[in-house]
Amino acid sequence: MKLDDTGFYAALIHELKNNLGLLAMTIDQIPAQNEPVHNEAVDAARLLCQGVIGRLQQALFIYKVSQQQMHPAINAYSTQDLVHEISEQAVALSRGQLKIEVDIHPDVPAIWFLDRDLIEMALINAIHNSLAYARSTIRIEATMLDGCLALTVRDDSEGYPEHVLNSVATNTPYRSTGTGLGLQFARLIAQSHDNQGRTGELRLHNDQGAVFCLVLP
Ligand SMILES: Nc1ncnc2c1ncn2[C@@H]1O[C@H](COP(=O)(O)OP(=O)(O)OP(=O)(O)O)[C@@H](O)[C@H]1O
Ligand SMILES: [Mg+2]
Repeated sequence: MKLDDTGFYAALIHELKNNLGLLAMTIDQIPAQNEPVHNEAVDAARLLCQGVIGRLQQALFIYKVSQQQMHPAINAYSTQDLVHEISEQAVALSRGQLKIEVDIHPDVPAIWFLDRDLIEMALINAIHNSLAYARSTIRIEATMLDGCLALTVRDDSEGYPEHVLNSVATNTPYRSTGTGLGLQFARLIAQSHDNQGRTGELRLHNDQGAVFCLVLP
């Protein structure tokens, strides 16, 4: 492999991402103490670690797209497991600051075909957004919508600003306080899922807060 081969950078990023995953697990093992200063610092370290992991995942995603390797690895996954794992991560990240609710509609099949890593990345970014903006509650839902699986993260924030809703609907970049890439990644991830001529979608709207919904055929 040539040193300027971008595959080399991708492998390095992958390695860093995995190391940070181990660091995050190590931080999780630090016991809480009867001292808010200690606990707050550990929580901040955990959140930061997860944030950097998310960034490295995005970097790998850009690499894949640039290499035209954006074929998702679609497999059969348990919808229950997926939703519960996301909610566990949300509980761990929010550290009791917010209420995390889960609702899996009885119509939702036990198994759905999707790229679990990509879908998890999109949902965790939505959770990170909700952690930043929600007042008290984040709700994770799985429902059926026109024969598609709809995975929703809703919160009780002020809702998405109008310009973000318009930009995502029209496929154009938006102003943001962060990199402003999270929702655009989520849209690409949704669109990379297709099945029998139908393509996945990211739908955003406001309903007593922000509603982020991945619709997967
Ligand atoms: N749950 C939410 N409630 C209210 N506003 C939101 C919410 N999620 C996102 N937004 C708004 O949408 C913008 C774009 O979100 P997006 O996730 O794409 O980017 P970001 O969070 O700013 O940056 P990044 O995700 O790359 O760190 C945010 O800057 C914020 O203004
Ligand atoms: Mg974000």
